[in-house]
Amino acid sequence: MVKICGIGAGYVGGPTMAVIALKCPSIEVAVVDISESRISAWNSKKLPFYEPGLEEVVNQCRGKNLLFSSDVEKHVYEADIIFVSVNTPTKIKGIGAGKAADLTYWESAARMIADVSNSDKIVVEKSTVPVRTAEAIGKILSENSKSKGIKYQILSNPEFLSEGTAIQDLLNPDRVLIGGNQDPQGLDAIQKLKDIYAYWVPQDRIITTNLWSAELSKLADNAFLAQRISSINAMSALCEATGAEVSQVSLALGKNTKIGPKFLNASVGFGGSCFQKDIMNLVYICESNGLTQVGNYWKEVIKVNEYQKSRFVHRVVTSMFNTVSGKKIGILGFAFKKDTSDTRKSPAIDVCKGLLGDNACLSIYDPRVTEHQIEKELCMDGVECVNVVGDAYEATRDAHGLCILTEWDEFKTIDYQRVYQNMEKPAFVFDGRNILDVHKLREIGFIVYSIGNPL
Ligand code: NAD
Ligand code: UGA
Repeated sequence: MVKICGIGAGYVGGPTMAVIALKCPSIEVAVVDISESRISAWNSKKLPFYEPGLEEVVNQCRGKNLLFSSDVEKHVYEADIIFVSVNTPTKIKGIGAGKAADLTYWESAARMIADVSNSDKIVVEKSTVPVRTAEAIGKILSENSKSKGIKYQILSNPEFLSEGTAIQDLLNPDRVLIGGNQDPQGLDAIQKLKDIYAYWVPQDRIITTNLWSAELSKLADNAFLAQRISSINAMSALCEATGAEVSQVSLALGKNTKIGPKFLNASVGFGGSCFQKDIMNLVYICESNGLTQVGNYWKEVIKVNEYQKSRFVHRVVTSMFNTVSGKKIGILGFAFKKDTSDTRKSPAIDVCKGLLGDNACLSIYDPRVTEHQIEKELCMDGVECVNVVGDAYEATRDAHGLCILTEWDEFKTIDYQRVYQNMEKPAFVFDGRNILDVHKLREIGFIVYSIGNPL
């Protein structure tokens, strides 16, 4: 029986390992983490984060062929294949600060694997890492091995799931990418990983490449996706200035089969833990290779995203007679996208901080994000005027304006007539996700600003 150990029980490691367990009943899957609290949440009724369908998958397998444990070393020792899904954040100090990936967690996982292993292992990079990380990891493993003759094969198997649709993405991936050494041992390891995915993924969707192509493809993938959003967001500013409507432009673009319809929703800016960090990582790699022009090209994607967030704050303040000081503003949505409780790098953080900087009073509602989480993200020291409330009506009662910052479906079906009645007048709506019917809202009496729509 093959034994798998997944190191890192986060947004990637947890769902990915759970789906492998679901689809491969004959494989034992142990998910380990240094965070005791994360592991105990995985073993409880309330999982560490909200992800549609995750609870059902975990409930089906936990206690059968899926277990969560903080005994990292035991499960690494026993495993044949080790998936490493630890965090790879941006370095915050030292050389490359603000750009390069901090591989501290990865390196410590590799050193621990070398320390405890007593048999050959396949080590799978699931985390997003700089191109050529496998080379460094290989050296750490082989030069720190405690037992002689142990062979390690490193594979790059980047993860492409999106939060909010993680389970669907894992059950039905458009592709699985496996990079490995092209020698007989490497090809054998690639085949072993292919055999696992073959339990549920059609062969033609499993792509194999060399290690460096797989590592770089992941960074390129996120850079292309983020670039599309910055492109449509840049167009949204032009739409507002010219009378074009961004959703009509997106529709027209999306019908071009060379462009395709996905990822063309203008927004208050993209968020999430990965786009910014992975692009900055790419920029750093470009610069380290003397490719300044290429790095500058990708940096613009981030600059446009920053511009989009600050443009939104500017719009709110200037529309409301150049002052929001002491005014209540209802904030609907704090997660970085719908169907997740994740707030990492959410555009809502920068927008809220911008409005607080102008002394606004915020009343925030998000269906899945806790008060504690919101306070943590806003780094509150008690002087800010922020309330976290339990529904959209409360958030907007007596408010001068409301901002939609996450595209939760429930915000589309709110009774806006009722909201209008309970707000101060003139009542402003700032739709940062372009999900509301501008004409209907204007009929009710709101003054409406919606990203990419003429005023
Ligand atoms: P996360 O922070 O949610 O989870 C990482 C986990 O690894 C944490 O629980 C941490 O305690 C644990 N960890 C760190 N060092 C460890 C060690 N030495 N031993 C055991 N556990 C350790 O991060 P995430 O969002 O799951 O992302 C993980 C990686 O996957 C990142 O490289 C990210 O870029 C990539 N990725 C993320 C997504 C996503 O949607 N979140 C999608 C694709 C790829
Ligand atoms: C993204 C990628 O889509 C995944 O392929 C990748 O695996 C993952 O990053 C990762 O490496 O972490 P995720 O960040 O979970 O997934 O979510 P997305 O759906 O990509 O949304 C990211 C941000 O862009 C959100 O803030 C979202 O609201 C915004 N977005 C997305 C737009 O503003 N417009 C769009 O058209 C699409």
